[in-house]
Parts: sequence; C-alpha cells; structure tokens
Amino acid sequence: MVKSVTIKAPSSTANLGPGFDVFGLALNAFYDQVKITKKKKGIKIITSDLIPSNPQKNTAGLVAKNIIKRFRIKDGVEIKIKKGVPVGFGMGSSAASAAATAVAMNKLFNLNLDSNSLIKFAGMGEKASAGTVHYDNVAASILGGFVIVRTNPLDVIKIDPPKDLALCIAIPKIAVPAKKTKVSRSVVPSKIKISDSIINLANAAAIVTGFMKKDSILIGKSIIDVIVEPARQHLIPGFSRVKKNALNAGALGVTISGAGPSVIAFATSSSNLKKISASMTRGFASSNKKSETIICKPSNGARIIKK
Ligand code: HSE
Repeated sequence: MVKSVTIKAPSSTANLGPGFDVFGLALNAFYDQVKITKKKKGIKIITSDLIPSNPQKNTAGLVAKNIIKRFRIKDGVEIKIKKGVPVGFGMGSSAASAAATAVAMNKLFNLNLDSNSLIKFAGMGEKASAGTVHYDNVAASILGGFVIVRTNPLDVIKIDPPKDLALCIAIPKIAVPAKKTKVSRSVVPSKIKISDSIINLANAAAIVTGFMKKDSILIGKSIIDVIVEPARQHLIPGFSRVKKNALNAGALGVTISGAGPSVIAFATSSSNLKKISASMTRGFASSNKKSETIICKPSNGARIIKK
C-alpha cells in the first residue's frame, strides 16, 4: 500500500494581459515540492519556509481538508512543503502548493479525479491567500502549458505552447503585503467601458490564436491589457519604466505577472533575452528598487517524483 507521494508543481503566470482570471501559463522558472504521507488522523503541515503552518490558513492544508471532507477519508495526512516559487510575487506560488497537494491526494487515496475536478479542489486553496477562488494559476500548474479557464461549470482547455516562446521575468525586491493578491484584486474595477472590453477581448482572442498556430510573435504582440494593468500598475514602483525598457530592448509584449509585483516580458528564443532582462533591472533601478531576473520557458504540469 502506498503511504506517501511526492509531487513537483511549476510556477505560473496568470492573465497574460487581457485574460484576467482566464489565462494561465506554467513556467519552468521555479517549482514547489509537496510530500504527503498518510497518518492516523488530522492534517499537519511541515515546512521551514515562511508560510502559515496552520492547515486552515495554509493553501495546501485547505486543499487537503476539502478533499478529506468531500471523500469522507478516514486517514489524516502530514504535508511536507518545500517552496521553490517565491511567495507573493505573482508567480503562482500558492497555486503550485495547491496543485501539488491536489495531485498528491488524488494519487495517495486513488480518487481517480479528472483534471477539472483536480483544478476545482486546488482552486479552493487559493482562498487562503487571495480571499477568493480563481483557477488560472492552479490550472496551469496542474496541466502545464497554456490554459483557458471557463467557469460555471469549470471547464479548462489546455493548449501546448510554441517551442520558441521565451519569457523574461523581473521580480522586484520589495515588501509585499501578507494578503497581496487580495489587495491587488481590490483595485480591479468592477465596471468597465465596452470600448475597453472590445480591446481586451480582441487581444485575448489573438493570444489564443497565437497558441493554436504556435506563433510566439502573435502571442507576444497581443499582450495588451487596457483594463487590469492600468488599475494595478501604481502598486509596482517603476512599472512603466520596466515595461518601456523591455519593449525597447526587443520584447514583444510586457505586462504584470498575475497579481504582481513581478513583470513579465514575452519574447522568442531568438530575442536578445539577456538584453531584455538587463533593461528590466535598469527599469526597477530607476525607482531605486533592486530586482532579480529570470529567463524561462513554459513548463509541463505537476508530476510525481516519488511514490
Ligand atoms: N488572476 C489572478 C489575479 C491571479 O490577477 O488576481 C492571481 O494570482
């Protein structure tokens, strides 16, 4: 009988500009590792990272709790979390732990859940950090590649990204609030102009077409968001300079990664990725902020590394 399962789940970027809460892309920049072991009872979190160890407040704990309740599982679990994805920087950190937990619980208890059900349970974990459920990051982290999330009913479509899609991410070294996603969701407008909706919708459709046609240039050039990015950019010191610099250095499109504060530039493997990254670092430096840059590619989804 299998007593423990270890899963590795990737970081991700959500929204990709116009696809707020709809688009996600798994990235090979960072990975979280979650080991779940069957125990007699209860849920225990073990981690040396700076995340809540109370299962009620921990993303992975919430996912496990919901699965145990839903399937009336009699056992308890010990959840060992090793964070690789930086917490609170718009790289899908909570989602990676949630995704890994849902996939691990599914294997450990032979639940045979389909991917939409796995995503639904993983999304419940986002409540711990974002206050509300959203599925873009967890869907990308579970399935890998590019995902489109439809809700009511939840139905996620996955498309394999073009092989030459490359990304530069600049992660500013700034203090982020504990409930950062909740804060950055609070500035998103609840009403929008139809003219703005038309622009975002057209670009979102072009992004999907770019993924279908494996056209990284079309994807990059369609990373245009006139709704959420303008509302959030004041939360990121130096954002407009970082964006301008990256575009001048050859990036095809630049936007906030998920709820921020990281900034993501879309390019191809033949772009000068080092030049784009350096230009983003200079952009943050112009606001006296240090930053770390990562050049990365799309990733596969969560996978078992040990049974
Ligand atoms: N779509 C979500 C947001 C992602 O932008 O708030 C947060 O991780």
